[in-house]
Order: sequence, then structure tokens, then C-alpha cells
Amino acid sequence: MRTVYLETFGCQMNELDSELVRGHMESLGYDFTEDPAAASILLYNTCSVREQAENKAFSRIGLAGVRKREGEDLLVGVLGCMAERDGVDMLRRHPQVDLLCGPGELDKLPVLIDNAARAASLDGSARPDPMDRVALAGNTSRRSAALSAAEGDLESLDLARAFDPERAAGRSRSAYVRITRGCNKFCTYCVVPHTRGAEVHRPPDGIIEECRRLAAAGVQEVTLLGQTVNHYRYTHGVAVTIGGDERPQVGPGLRAFRNEILDDPGTTTFAQLLARIHDEVPELPRLRFLTSYPRDFGDDVLSVMASRPRICRYLHVPVQSGSNRILKLMNRGYTVEEYLEFVDRVLEHLPDACIAGDIIVGFPTETDEDFDATKAVLRRVPFKNNFIFKYSPRPGTVAIDRFEDDVTDEVKRARNNELLALQAEIGTAVHASWVGREVDVLVERITKKSPTPRVSAVDARVTLGRGLSIGLPASAAGSGPDADSPHGEHPDKETPVQVSGRTSGDLITVFDLPSQALASQSVGTIQRVRVEDSGPLLLRGTLVSPPPVQS
Ligand code: 5AD
Ligand code: SF4
Repeated sequence: MRTVYLETFGCQMNELDSELVRGHMESLGYDFTEDPAAASILLYNTCSVREQAENKAFSRIGLAGVRKREGEDLLVGVLGCMAERDGVDMLRRHPQVDLLCGPGELDKLPVLIDNAARAASLDGSARPDPMDRVALAGNTSRRSAALSAAEGDLESLDLARAFDPERAAGRSRSAYVRITRGCNKFCTYCVVPHTRGAEVHRPPDGIIEECRRLAAAGVQEVTLLGQTVNHYRYTHGVAVTIGGDERPQVGPGLRAFRNEILDDPGTTTFAQLLARIHDEVPELPRLRFLTSYPRDFGDDVLSVMASRPRICRYLHVPVQSGSNRILKLMNRGYTVEEYLEFVDRVLEHLPDACIAGDIIVGFPTETDEDFDATKAVLRRVPFKNNFIFKYSPRPGTVAIDRFEDDVTDEVKRARNNELLALQAEIGTAVHASWVGREVDVLVERITKKSPTPRVSAVDARVTLGRGLSIGLPASAAGSGPDADSPHGEHPDKETPVQVSGRTSGDLITVFDLPSQALASQSVGTIQRVRVEDSGPLLLRGTLVSPPPVQS
């Protein structure tokens, strides 16, 4: 079997797609490598949301072409949104590409690889139709693409997820679970509704089962994914297989958010889904979700969050611009006033909530006044961070056809830098407000390695949260008579090792553990930390002992 290198560009949705592709292919016997030079199948899971991600993917495809021209026996596959958008044109312009697979067709990838390998082994004239190596939804309408996603082929990828607890341990025991595919919003700058198709919602029972399996495999944090995650809504009894199982379902659109059907007992709303996962998977320590749409985010979701401690106090809710005129041109469907009213409601229900966002600078026609309005929103909302993007016209979007990209790159760059500086000020204040408090941190990685640890006699034990404990020298544990010695080093003392993780509000937190072994063992566990200091982007703290009991 050939060895595969899979590289992912872009968003969390793509990271999840890559994980599912990898699990599926591993179950068929493929090996994966982190080293492209060691692979004979190169797969690029691409993103076309912004130009930068696309340029990176094109440069990788170019390098693969060089290797092929030098005579290497390689198969090159382009997956994801770029494949969907460019279609067979990509095969024409980049002949080194052997196969294309859109984000809604990933279950077909192994067949495409087989077909491409067969085609590569034949002479040009004998080669089968190149369409054997292409799986895209684009040649059908958005509606029928959504329907085919709802038929369940793709669903089987999510459900069959071959979760590998060992790999999860290496990646801090955090997993994504998709609840909705696609997007119905059509923001004018955005390619997602064109590449990922219409909204399709997964049945709640399948989602809960997936969360349960992940928790049983040791996952500490599940992040529910949807482009507009709070629009999740599943109507029961309308999409059922012969066996009685429910299927994914095309979203009802905004009709569903009119009051008269909000309380329909035959539907599961986003708030109800959150409550069910929290209550029915009590062994899952953390549940979060991405990305929220500022409109239609009801108090029902906030109440569920407020009453359920294991739902993270973190909201990623992009505002995109602070100018109502620009928001209208973007077709965002809300005003700045509505966004601010939403933020006020969040902080009323969840005073500890951390809010992050996305902002686009230099959208067509953006004036200094529009930009000032965006700065005013930043000053008004305690954003822990904002991802700031310079507008880039994307092929296939409404904005590229309708509006001239008339803000110069120089102005975009200046506005970008100005917002970064302002966000750093706001981030500093938000992080500083946590100093002196205790937070629970899901440890993700060791950030500073100590020199090779010395082996020493075990004469004390340090206990980490959730029952982990490890033998340590008394001095390193900080509990022995020498721990506070003003006279420098105990002969057995190990160098402290810094670890980094995230709070329930997604605040990055670093703290020291007394040894390399303890630090390694802490990755993927939740630890209580007292915050001593802060910066614009992180908290610094010390481990609290004994650790808290997780509620
Ligand atoms: N130009 C710049 N930024 C964009 N985004 C989406 N499309 C574009 C574009 N054409 C940003 C938005 C979105 C994030 C995922 O990417 O801020 O929230
Ligand atoms: Fe793109 Fe708007 Fe949908 Fe987000 S809500 S994925 S920005 S169209």
C-alpha cells in the first residue's frame, strides 16, 4: 500500500475533514507520513476563503509538479474548497494534479485514488475519462448538492470516524464534531456557500453518539462545528431511513427563526442539542462550539450555557465591520446596534464569557469613517482576540462581481496594523482582568523543554488533576524542606518545565510544572491554575494544589 502525505489549509472544518479522511483511509490500509518526501500520494486539503491560503496550496502543487517532472512516481490530489471552486479547470492548468475531490464528496476519495492510480499506469491514449478522477458537487445545483449530502454517504464518514485515542493524546485530547455542513448566509465576500453548499443538519442522536464515543476514548474537549453553528435545527420525523434511523436534513432557512415555530416539540434546536450533549455525556469535561452567527442567537442558548458548567464560556462571533453601511454591502443581515445588544445579553447571562471575533478591513468602498466605526466596536466589546483580515476578492462570490476592490493595499495594510494595535490594547485589559483568579486549564503542550531530566530517588508525589500522579523528588514537588531554600539548588532539583493550555473561555495560559515527566503527563488533562500575571494574548499562572474536583 502506498504512503500518504496529507496537508491541510484553512479552517477547523478542513482540519476535521482531514482527520476523517485519514481515519477512513487508514482503515483501508493506507499509511500516513508527516514527511512529504517519504510519500507517494500527496493530498492537499485546500481552502479558498482567503487568497493567502490558496497561494500556499498552489505553491505546494507547484513543488509536487517539479518532483513528478523529475520522474518520481507520485499521485497528487487536490481536496476541499479550491477543488470544488476551480473544478476541472484545475486539471487543465495543473496537469500534475491527478484527482479532485470537493468537500462534500470526501467519502469517494479512495475510489478516486484507485482510478487515478490505474490511469497513471496506462499510456495517454488508453487512459479512461478524467472525470473518473473527479468528485465535485458543483456540476449539480446547490439544492441537489445539499440533498445528496443529506442522503447520508458523507454522514457515514463522520459516523465511522476511526478515533485513535493514542493520536488524540498527542493532540491534547480535543476533538471536533460537525453538527451542520454548508451555509445559507451568502455574505457577499464569502466563497463558503458556493463551495460547501446549502446548510445540512445532522440528526442529534448521531452527534450525541459521536460525542459519547470520543469521551470514552479519553477526549476531554469536544468542539461542535458549523459555519453558523447556532442555526442548528433538526425537525424529527421527516428524514428517516427504512430502518428508522434519522438522516441529515437540509436546513429550513430563516423561516425557522420566526417565533411561531421556535417551540415546536418536533424539533431539536441548538440550545436543546447543547443541553442534551451536556446532560447525556456527563463524562465529557468540556463542550464548546464554533462559529456563531450574531443574529438568531437566542437567550435559550445563553440560559443552557449558564446552567451547565461543562459548556465552555467561549463565543467566537465575528462582527466583520462596525459600519452599518458596510455590513449591508456584506449582506451580513444585522446592524452594529443588534450586535452590541447581543454582546450585552451574553455578558448579562455569562459574566465570565470570553468573546472573540473576525474583522475584514478594506471591504470595497470602506471609508475612514467606516473604519472609525469598526474601531469604536472594538473599544465597546471586551474582545479577547480578533482575527483581522484584509479583504480579498474571491472568485465565485457576489462581491467580486458587484464591487470594485477600490481600497488600496497600502490602506488595507495600515488599517490592519492599526486594528492589531488596538486589539492588543483591548486584549491586554481583558487578560489582566483575570489576574488573581483561578482557572481550569486544558493542557495542550509543553512549551519549554528542560534539559534531559536527571533520574533521582522518589521521595514525594505530586498529584495532577483527574487522578494522575507521579513520583518526584521532594524538592521538585515543592513540598519538601528544601523547596523554599534561599540557598539555590538542591542537588536533585529538576528544571521546571513550562506547559501551555486553554481556559474554558479559550484564554491561553502558561504555567510551570516541576519536571519533564510531570509536564508530559499533564498534556491532555485539566489543571487548576492561579493566574499571577498576564499579557495581550495570554495568562501566566501557578498550579493550584490540591486540584479541584471537576463538576
Ligand atoms: N476576504 C477577507 N477575509 C475574508 N473572510 C472570508 N472571506 C474573506 C475575503 N474574501 C474572513 C471572514 C470570515 C473568516 C473565516 O474569513 O472574516 O469570518
Ligand atoms: Fe461565509 Fe457568511 Fe456563511 Fe460565514 S456566515 S461561512 S462568512 S457566508
